[in-house]
Amino acid sequence: MARRKIIAGNWKMNKTPSEAVALVNELKPLVATEDADVVFCVPAIDIIPAMEAAKGSNICIGAENMYYEESGAYTGEIAPAMLTDVGVKYVIIGHSERREYFAETDETVNKKVLKAFEHGITPIICCGESLTQREQGITIDWIRQQIKIAFLNVTADQAKTAVIAYEPIWAIGTGKVATTEQAQEVCHAIRVCIGEIFDQATAEAIRIQYGGSVSASNAAELFAQADIDGGLVGGASLKADFGKIVNYK
Ligand code: 13P
Repeated sequence: MARRKIIAGNWKMNKTPSEAVALVNELKPLVATEDADVVFCVPAIDIIPAMEAAKGSNICIGAENMYYEESGAYTGEIAPAMLTDVGVKYVIIGHSERREYFAETDETVNKKVLKAFEHGITPIICCGESLTQREQGITIDWIRQQIKIAFLNVTADQAKTAVIAYEPIWAIGTGKVATTEQAQEVCHAIRVCIGEIFDQATAEAIRIQYGGSVSASNAAELFAQADIDGGLVGGASLKADFGKIVNYK
């Protein structure tokens, strides 16, 4: 069975609540499609107004992060139940910027992934290598390790519903997109790894995105690859171009 494409925007730390409403209203008609799931992952404070603005459209509003405890003395964090209470269905986990600037590790990623599943939120689990790692020829080993730890104690039924975003760090925000061959090679290796951890059915069901300088001009070629089921889009998700990416065909 063909996997349904999932194209997600990651707004990162951009857009105030009022700007978020304006952007959702601008993009709403442009991202209309029946062929893919369309998700806007927005800053926590934008979630509610963005959802209001997205009502009646095909846009699903997601979060960019979440904590792995239920509640308590964790100043500044967002609990999973706070997200589900307002209807959030997707959360980005372990983006490389969170790993780099906010000390997230494969272990905290795993805790967050487990917690997201516990609350019925679909995690968009990020992995990716640095330029040094790519040059050293250890990309696949590194990604396999990230995936194996992220999926510790996850069940096959949960994993089937997960989304993995392969985002080479050197391609994020640099305008330097991975070649389709590079992107397909790693996304395929991720699927093989999922097959090893779980089984073939899980490997075939899980959706794997590519992220890193996805644009209106490269989306079609990337998304046509056998193991690439859509994209996680940063910069271009904040512009009308996102409509072209979503309707890439
Ligand atoms: P850019 O599309 O801006 O390169 O960002 C990619 C990204 O980090 C999405 O999560």
